[in-house]
Amino acid sequence: MGGYTLIENASLLKRNTLRVDARAKLLAEVRDASKLPELLDFPAIRTSRLLVLGEGSNILFTGNLDGTVLAMETRGVLVEQEGDLTRIAVAAGERWDDFVRWTLGQGFAGLENLILIPGTVGAAPIQNIGAYGTEVAEFIESVEAWDRIERRVVTLDRSACAFGYRDSLFKHEPDRFIVTAVRFALPRQHVLRMDYTGIREELERMGVSHPAPFHVAEAVVHLRTRKLPDPAVIGNAGSFFKNPIVDAAVGEALKHERPELVAWAGKDGRWKLSAAWLIETAGFKGMREGDVGISNRHALVLVNHGKASGEELWAFAQRVIEGVHARFGVKLEPEPVVIGTS
Ligand code: FAD
Ligand code: EPU
Repeated sequence: MGGYTLIENASLLKRNTLRVDARAKLLAEVRDASKLPELLDFPAIRTSRLLVLGEGSNILFTGNLDGTVLAMETRGVLVEQEGDLTRIAVAAGERWDDFVRWTLGQGFAGLENLILIPGTVGAAPIQNIGAYGTEVAEFIESVEAWDRIERRVVTLDRSACAFGYRDSLFKHEPDRFIVTAVRFALPRQHVLRMDYTGIREELERMGVSHPAPFHVAEAVVHLRTRKLPDPAVIGNAGSFFKNPIVDAAVGEALKHERPELVAWAGKDGRWKLSAAWLIETAGFKGMREGDVGISNRHALVLVNHGKASGEELWAFAQRVIEGVHARFGVKLEPEPVVIGTS
């Protein structure tokens, strides 16, 4: 009823996959995006800090939020066929993985490598989610958002979104846009992407010689399930650090010193280093202190073994950053959004 629900002094424990026991002064669950202007005009909301939240799978709360959390819970999918393209408009609150599986069920290819990524559709453009050789930006035609500065609905096309590796316009203007829907364009002719390490081997193991998109999806599911800890079992936010991008000279010098360094040459001549390798080699993989640690399955994953606080998780992350910097001279950056008190 009313398109939204307001809850005071709300627990965020079940709303972040790192399972931090933080609270928000006010929580607004939004089921109808057209009610956003009305909601944002409430004096208590207008005058305080606002955080848009999806499933909380890429966020670290280091304290309570003295403001409003706007949980996008809108639903809806609209499909249009146009020549060689399938256009799909999806409400921000839809679950990303459900949407990917739905596209595959409909016979629409393109998103198969991005299966099993947690989170909402509305959050997918924020860090330009990517996995197994595909980034979502490639399939985004435009993003519809409420612009809090211009106070109107805007449509940002792909180039306006300024997508990059785990990056977009939305990360640079974090308090401006509330994504309400994402429009995807999936070409009917699609070449499967199977070059990422492990995909072909997995398809072979599955006994698939003529793969279809759903086979690639299944292979990715197997790889992800083996490599990444499940947030339903142990609190985590996926990769906690981005793979650092360095100048070729820096990459070459490191490679000279440590020939086993894992790195990939980027299109622009710069190098992307494997942060997991750097962290593992610096000795942090599987380390645990109290309830905080680095997963023993994947060195990029910061884990909450139980009741770790946001401050404890953040302090441990800083130690990892400092340890890697001391050893390799490379500064790691966190991938999740870190939300502090204020
Ligand atoms: P949240 O964590 O709720 O929010 C993340 C950011 O987006 C916040 O800044 C928030 O304010 C903003 N935001 C969310 N919704 C909106 C909206 N509607 N409008 C404006 N801003 C919004 N990511 C990858 O790229 N690749 C992976 O392979 C991958 N694997 C993962 C595996 C695991 C086990 C986990 C836990 C996470 C993984 N992630 C991965 C990270 C995460 O799934 C993605 O970043 C996802 O898009 C986050 O969605 P969310 O709804 O949980 O966003
Ligand atoms: N590696 C290690 N130690 C480990 C794990 C990996 O040394 O504990 C090395 C191995 O050499 C491995 C290489 O790192 O071959 C790459 O590992 P992986 O394929 O797991 O990829 P990644 O670079 O660690 C990135 C994304 C993931 C995404 C995978 C698959 C980032 C920060 N992370 O991880 O995204 O699922 O590729 O494409 O770019 C996320 O963003 O939350 C996330 C999970």
